[in-house]
Amino acid sequence: MKVYFCMQLTIPSDAFSDGQVRSKMWLTHSFNSWAAKHLNPEVRLTLNWYGSWVGIGPLLLLSSTTVHFNQINVFDQDPTSLKTSLMVLNHWFIQNRVHGDSKDVNTHIPAQDPHQLFINTACEHFTSDNWLKLIPKDSYVLLQSTNMTHDEHLNCSQSLEDFRKRYHALVDIFELSQLDFHYTNKEFSRFMLFGQKK
Ligand SMILES: C[S@@+](CC[C@H](N)C(=O)[O-])C[C@H]1O[C@@H](n2cnc3c(N)ncnc32)[C@H](O)[C@@H]1O
Repeated sequence: MKVYFCMQLTIPSDAFSDGQVRSKMWLTHSFNSWAAKHLNPEVRLTLNWYGSWVGIGPLLLLSSTTVHFNQINVFDQDPTSLKTSLMVLNHWFIQNRVHGDSKDVNTHIPAQDPHQLFINTACEHFTSDNWLKLIPKDSYVLLQSTNMTHDEHLNCSQSLEDFRKRYHALVDIFELSQLDFHYTNKEFSRFMLFGQKK
């Protein structure tokens, strides 16, 4: 068992911004109710988090979901972020349930087992949706995107309807939801869907 003591982590403060944290809390609450409605509690799913960044999304979900994942795979093409996320997820890592991979998921072919959940809360950052084409039919999918303009947002959805239209050819959408953010210096929305890969 590997235990980390007194290591310093460098995490961008944006990972703890109200918008980021509220989006992940919204995901967690929604996922718990959607799981109760749509998932078979007898079936264990593998969790794959694409674009896991520094791990705050998985941390918030895993620390409060009622769904148990035996295996948790986190993917981020930035090796520094990935390394940080494995330390943030140390509680699950030392149980040998977390595996990290610093690859571009647009070229990653996952195991073709349908008993998996794929989460991507950073669709606006992904240059292509090839990763979604590569995941197995009937696996569960939870996606978030936004209409917020930002230098690093390469693939925004302009509205909830635009978001739905982008993904409905690949995902049988069970749930679709929007969260609006109003700050003094900016306004934007996040969009979220839950469904099953076609
Ligand atoms: C800035 S973060 C995400 C912010 C977002 N709101 C969230 O927390 O989900 C976007 C992450 O996606 C990762 N990323 C973007 N394209 C990727 C790809 N093709 N494969 C793997 N990771 C990718 C980036 O390295 C980055 O860490």
